[in-house]
Amino acid sequence: MAGIYIHIPFCKQKCHYCNFYSTVSLKYRNEFYNALIREIESRIDYLVTEEVNTIYFGGGTPSMLSIQELSNIIKALYNTYNVANDVEITLEANPDDLTKEKIYDIKKHTSVNRLSIGIQSFFDDDLVYLNRVHNSDEAQKSIEAALVAGFDNITIDLIYGIPTLTDKKWRENLVRFFDYGIPHLSSYSLTVEEKTALDVLIKKQKLANINEEQSISHYKILIEETDKKNFVHYEISNFALEGSYSKHNSIYWLGGHYMGLGPSAHSYNGIARQWNVMSVKRYCEEANPVNIIEEKEVLTVDQVYNEYILTSLRTSWGCDIEHISNVFGNKYYSHFLKNIDKVIKENKVTCTGNIYTLTSMGKLFADGISSSLFYGL
Ligand SMILES: C[S@@+](CC[C@H](N)C(=O)[O-])C[C@H]1O[C@@H](n2cnc3c(N)ncnc32)[C@H](O)[C@@H]1O
Ligand code: SF4
Repeated sequence: MAGIYIHIPFCKQKCHYCNFYSTVSLKYRNEFYNALIREIESRIDYLVTEEVNTIYFGGGTPSMLSIQELSNIIKALYNTYNVANDVEITLEANPDDLTKEKIYDIKKHTSVNRLSIGIQSFFDDDLVYLNRVHNSDEAQKSIEAALVAGFDNITIDLIYGIPTLTDKKWRENLVRFFDYGIPHLSSYSLTVEEKTALDVLIKKQKLANINEEQSISHYKILIEETDKKNFVHYEISNFALEGSYSKHNSIYWLGGHYMGLGPSAHSYNGIARQWNVMSVKRYCEEANPVNIIEEKEVLTVDQVYNEYILTSLRTSWGCDIEHISNVFGNKYYSHFLKNIDKVIKENKVTCTGNIYTLTSMGKLFADGISSSLFYGL
């Protein structure tokens, strides 16, 4: 299993909370397409002979691409890589871009077969707090249009823990989601990232601060309601009906290989991790594709082990002690066993056979639990 991630670094407006790499300047908008095609063709050796099972357009705002650009980028990928017949092709889309016509054209003229729509909330006051460019009406219409156009593999993003979002409104957001019959939900707790507009505005007391208790309450509601509807909580922020898991994100969580294209995109081939420059200007102006790599690091065994702990514990597949013993050896196996007891006693982790998974309570402390199991830190 291997995947290709393509980062589209443009946004119409910067959301207050977001620290993903993107720019609202469209100065390099046209050059970007040419630079991306150049990178696609130049990275031919990265995945060697591996079959590409997933292609994921993320951002930034991939739905700002024209249909022609999207279709040409996918064609270039097919021409260059060994793309599987049943490839999953996901497009992250913002509701304001998804007019009926645009969705219809995406369906008709491209091979995109999965849509990830950034709804965040169905309420205008939450969207204003987040500084989203779309409103609640566009949020609903975009989902309806996607369903009418014939997309059945749809996921939406919802953010909880927004100060304007009461428990009642949060439950209503979830009811709306279930009413559409969509098979997948990604839901994130609002995080105040350093130096974002949200961080600055909260510090200046111009926006209400987030409240941890409120976020925990929303998370509990989320787990309760998705469970009632038979959604599998298959990753800490991801819920899906059986058979509708994100194949692409599962590659990240299961330690698979992926190639990231576009500014700031990360790649991992099982040996080394590398990432591209975080600048559209440098990405577009650099004629030699080798120079768009910002950094490359060959992972140590400690790093690979720590990454395995971090990602596996976040999933319902869990952390496999036999895998630790077989792949990393006795030193890591003993270290894991020595440290896992404490979190099991605290009822944060449970064990069935070889597999360790987080309990519902443990999911609230995932990062802390992982670090307590890390080696060499
Ligand atoms: C970076 S966006 C890219 C997709 C698209 N531009 C959009 O906004 O929907 C991917 C998702 O990350 C989530 N996200 C980004 N920053 C976040 C933060 N600080 N707190 C919570 N969720 C965040 C949002 O739910 C968003 O939909
Ligand atoms: S959340 Fe999405 S739309 Fe908002 S700034 Fe980040 S990438 Fe752009």
